[in-house]
Amino acid sequence: MDGFIEVKDLKKTFVDKEKSTEVLKGIDLSIQKGEIFGIVGFSGAGKSTLVRCINRLEEPDSGTVLIDGEDITALNRDALNKRRRRIGMIFQQFNLFDSMTVRKNIAYALKHTELSEKEKEERIDEMLRLVSLTDKRDAYPGELSGGQKQRVGIARALANNPDVLLSDEATSALDPQTTLSVLDLLKEINEKLGLTILLITHELEVVKYTCNRMAVMEEGKLVEQGLVEEIFQNPKCDTAKSFIDVYNKFRSN
Ligand SMILES: Nc1ncnc2c1ncn2[C@@H]1O[C@H](COP(=O)(O)OP(=O)(O)OP(=O)(O)O)[C@@H](O)[C@H]1O
Ligand SMILES: [Mg+2]
Repeated sequence: MDGFIEVKDLKKTFVDKEKSTEVLKGIDLSIQKGEIFGIVGFSGAGKSTLVRCINRLEEPDSGTVLIDGEDITALNRDALNKRRRRIGMIFQQFNLFDSMTVRKNIAYALKHTELSEKEKEERIDEMLRLVSLTDKRDAYPGELSGGQKQRVGIARALANNPDVLLSDEATSALDPQTTLSVLDLLKEINEKLGLTILLITHELEVVKYTCNRMAVMEEGKLVEQGLVEEIFQNPKCDTAKSFIDVYNKFRSN
């Protein structure tokens, strides 16, 4: 069965003045509709580049990305911009506008919609309820905790009813308790909205807690893919073994 997100032989090389770095060396990935799929890998493995190539914030050199059967790599600028509104993205550093209130940060995502002003306000309120931040509607990001900021990021990412959410280290700047609450929120919206989530992290416990299937990325390649449980029980590549080793050491001491 074809996945909701199908990545085929995706490649990306960055070329600077003197050297070129092959960062994605032919990525194949198939993510089912409504799944939360995790990718782990060491720093520099190419995880962020992969997500950025999926929504073409970065242009891949070759390969294809299909979302719901549509070839994202073949879209022209206009069509891409339109499609992208329905691909939510959240980041480690939240990427909020500090000079805008919470309400305005979410409204920003809705600037292209054909909703009336009243409908927009209703949508913003609905998003605020979803992430439990109704009381922070008129606060500025500087007045919020990290977890609250990420909730605003999630509200903004979901404002346009996306069918895909790309999460790049969204909990890496948060303390363990806040990480859990954000992951619970992602699980909740995954169930409630049927959203397909690609979750990038270097924290194995995040994948263990949230995902059904996962892949391990190593120097621009996905070297192992499968059910989280199976990889935990029987890791094959050195990177997976090393991640699990560290995970177990933290738990046993
Ligand atoms: N715009 C760019 N120009 C040149 N090289 C880049 C660019 N973006 C990323 N790279 C290189 O690509 C490689 C992979 O970077 P990437 O950010 O995708 O890794 P990552 O797995 O997300 O790492 P981390 O866990 O630290 O976030 C690194 O060697 C990085 O230096
Ligand atoms: Mg990264």
